[in-house]
Amino acid sequence: MIVSKPALLLGIETSCDETAAAVVEDGARLRSSVVASQLDTHGKYGGVVPELASREHLRAIGPVVRECLSEAGVALDDLAAVAATSGPGLVGSLLVGLTYAKALCFARGLPLIGVNHIEGHIHAVLLEARAAQREVEFPAVALVVSGGHTHLFEMTGVSEYRLIGKTRDDAAGEAFDKVAKLLGFGYPGGPVIDRLAPYGDPNGVRLPLAKMKGNAQDFSFSGLKTAVLRWVEAQDMQEEIDRRRRLLRENPRPAVEQWLEVTPKRTLDLVASFQRTVIEELLRRAAAAIELMSARALIISGGVACNSGLRAAAGELRLGVPVFFPTPGLSTDNAAMIAAAGFEKWKKGEWSDLSLAARANLSLTAPR
Ligand code: KG4
Ligand code: ZN
Repeated sequence: MIVSKPALLLGIETSCDETAAAVVEDGARLRSSVVASQLDTHGKYGGVVPELASREHLRAIGPVVRECLSEAGVALDDLAAVAATSGPGLVGSLLVGLTYAKALCFARGLPLIGVNHIEGHIHAVLLEARAAQREVEFPAVALVVSGGHTHLFEMTGVSEYRLIGKTRDDAAGEAFDKVAKLLGFGYPGGPVIDRLAPYGDPNGVRLPLAKMKGNAQDFSFSGLKTAVLRWVEAQDMQEEIDRRRRLLRENPRPAVEQWLEVTPKRTLDLVASFQRTVIEELLRRAAAAIELMSARALIISGGVACNSGLRAAAGELRLGVPVFFPTPGLSTDNAAMIAAAGFEKWKKGEWSDLSLAARANLSLTAPR
């Protein structure tokens, strides 16, 4: 009997501010996943500083890959291929991971698989579904919501995507980050808003839903962001905002109780109402897409998929199809999702040339 060896893929992800490596077996079993976050570097600037991100990736990439291989108990010679994110993202950051992957492939004669970061986010769900022996049925609707992207796809198969909607301005995560920054909650904003929202009234502040002209499946968050700004301007909030900024200088990661001491009820209501509105924007388009496509599953992934309000609302909405979220560790940027997406390409022989370029605006589908 011939028993084929499992295919071990090393994934490398450096598109934004996490240096990540992972080993995945047969696109289904996570052998190790290491993520080095640059939060401490960028936090004090209120957002990602591209030059600092590249420098941090350079520093971290070697140790992160070594740690990941040793945790998996895998040597370079055991690998079937190396999958690396080639876009979209910050070019200086992408180049670090992609060049490192190319060097490994060149030195060891391994195939290089270039992976689209957004496709990676979707494959975080497919990887975990496979591991749990749960089947994602197609056609499926996939909502990718992160700091850089808000995309809605129709998927007719594991690697078949059609873009049906995307944000016309800010990404959902970006809206969380900008609102948090404005209110003095620091960066990244999503996790803080998520933790504070349950203390406010989600209907306490009236905020507008976006009215889309043209494609109704597109998203827009700039009107909501402006409404929050106007509300803040009307409230005379400078003193409490300053108090929160002071707290952040003393302690870069305050506990909920500390935030609550410097955040009055009206601001908690705003935070809760903002989060509820974003969730409503996301889920009503996902629900419409499910109906339109007669979809049999909904996939929600990307950093914003960590949001507990979104997870709860997606369950309560009774969308009529199973909803798949990645576990929080695989919702934000990681390399397991890149190795999993890479595995599908590896199987089909879709290997990349060593001249593969890093592309800031790499798209997953042809332009709409
Ligand atoms: O996927 P990700 O790690 O990076 C990108 O590809 O952009 O997503 C990061 C984004 C940030 O905007 C962050 O504020 C948001 O995900 N995020 C959240 C939560 N955790 C992270 N947004 C809402 N609720 C959360 N719990
Ligand atoms: Zn991402």
